[in-house]
Amino acid sequence: MRRLILLLPLLLFINCKQQPASPTGLVTEKAMVVSAREEASRIGVEIMQKGGNVFDAMVATELALAVAYPFAGNLGGGGFMVYRKNNGEVGGIDYREKAPLAAHKDMYLDSLGNVIPNMSTSGATSAGVPGTVAGVMAVHKKFGSLPLSEIMEPIIALAKRGVVVTEKQADRLESYRDRFIEANGDSTKFAGPFKAGDTIKYPELAQTLQIIMEQGHDGFYKGEVAQKLAAFVQEKDGFITEEDLARYQAKWRDPIEFDYKDLHVISMSPPSSGGVTINQIFKMMEPYNISKLGHNSTKSIQLFTEASRRAYADRNYFLGDPDFVDIPYDMLLNDGYLQDRMANFSFDKATLSSDVSHGEVEIIESDETTHYSIVDSEGNAISATTTLNGGYGSKLYCDELGFFLNNEMDDFSSKPGVPNMFGLVGAEANSIAPEKRMLSSMTPTIVEKDGKLYMVVGTPGGSTIITAVAQTILNVYEFNLSMQEAVNAPRFHHQWLPDMVIFEPEGFPEELIAELEAKGYIINKERTPIIGKVDAIRVLPNGKLEGGADKRGDDTAVGF
Ligand code: GLY
Repeated sequence: MRRLILLLPLLLFINCKQQPASPTGLVTEKAMVVSAREEASRIGVEIMQKGGNVFDAMVATELALAVAYPFAGNLGGGGFMVYRKNNGEVGGIDYREKAPLAAHKDMYLDSLGNVIPNMSTSGATSAGVPGTVAGVMAVHKKFGSLPLSEIMEPIIALAKRGVVVTEKQADRLESYRDRFIEANGDSTKFAGPFKAGDTIKYPELAQTLQIIMEQGHDGFYKGEVAQKLAAFVQEKDGFITEEDLARYQAKWRDPIEFDYKDLHVISMSPPSSGGVTINQIFKMMEPYNISKLGHNSTKSIQLFTEASRRAYADRNYFLGDPDFVDIPYDMLLNDGYLQDRMANFSFDKATLSSDVSHGEVEIIESDETTHYSIVDSEGNAISATTTLNGGYGSKLYCDELGFFLNNEMDDFSSKPGVPNMFGLVGAEANSIAPEKRMLSSMTPTIVEKDGKLYMVVGTPGGSTIITAVAQTILNVYEFNLSMQEAVNAPRFHHQWLPDMVIFEPEGFPEELIAELEAKGYIINKERTPIIGKVDAIRVLPNGKLEGGADKRGDDTAVGF
């Protein structure tokens, strides 16, 4: 009996490891959408209740976000989606923007070879050829089960009815107001002012969506909408032409897949850097027992930071649009190579980023994007991340068509070695060329455990996307948090350069920061932004779904 009492804590510990955490987020029986706005999650769910599959719901949610969340949801931007069908078949689609035909390597440089301020970040000159409509139409064509009209009518109705401004949205609109006026004049819709509780109606967007509903892909890329869009951009001295729009096609791409212990991770391939980088981070950490080190402990933060340091150094040097750049996947994803990369890691002291190879270059993207995760009642799953790049993209709003244009051209490296708008510099692999896609960090990800669907996860956050997705997976799998707890948990980020670890404002005790500093880590104490807004779904052992909707935004899980 005494022996049993002594063994009890150990038995409890083993049991805790084996029993997944009880859910604390929304639990539903069959299907779920988690996105940045309740309106979009609800429309996606209603499509599934009408008998639509996960792909119908993806089309609906993506387009509903373009109405309800213009901060990042879009018709004028692009994104990536990864899917896993219930039979285990996986795939991905790239609807990333691309450089216009008129683009060239030095397009943002003056006659002395200096980067022209703001040209790649604001207004029409910063816009890449939008990919979102092509993406959702390609998904619908290949996998959709409901007619497009059934999917799009509720979205058009929402645009006409209008969307209620939340507190967080009112703050955002106010903080961007001067820039909207600067880009568009003071008669633009977004000149506002708006307060929480106001309803913003989008009749012009409803009209554009109506044309897309009637004509599909060509409704956006050819004819009236394309003519108006190209004329609008050119009148503002931008580069996108009708020919650019007519040539745009989304691309189906094989995702990056890898095993981490008994998980199988499926994530986006280039031109997103997400899949390759998360693969490298996990494989570098795999030989260590991170769960034993403790959640957000000094040692687990060190291990994660050092793996990230090495992975981002490779990311920034080797990755770009695979249609233009040869990416050495065999080397980058080789187990032996990744273990060698960690050979000089020690828990005693930080590695200097200057001691990690390819130290000449660095890239970061802005942190304003949006992610949604969906599982349908048949167990099919999609994970999609979409963006305008900056918040409200280029700030250029086409009042006639009812949407913002992206400023995604800034995700290219305007001049290798020279900082972009975030004070950072880029690499040759991501230099500008006509029709090339700019490197992204978007990391829509699906995880299997024991061959079954286990988690659907992703987030906005620019270069912090990759580490936020990785930490969320670890939070559930290694640290046994529920999906909602894993999403809520405080996050940190490191990306090789700058040689600095960034922590969220809450949740990291001063003693922990002091301990890391004593080991040589440089901690960013001046700017402690929130890191990501993760929207995720976990499949519980009984087959029910638990949502993780990030408390950092207005994100909401809806299901049935
Ligand atoms: N523009 C953000 C990203 O693509 O990563």
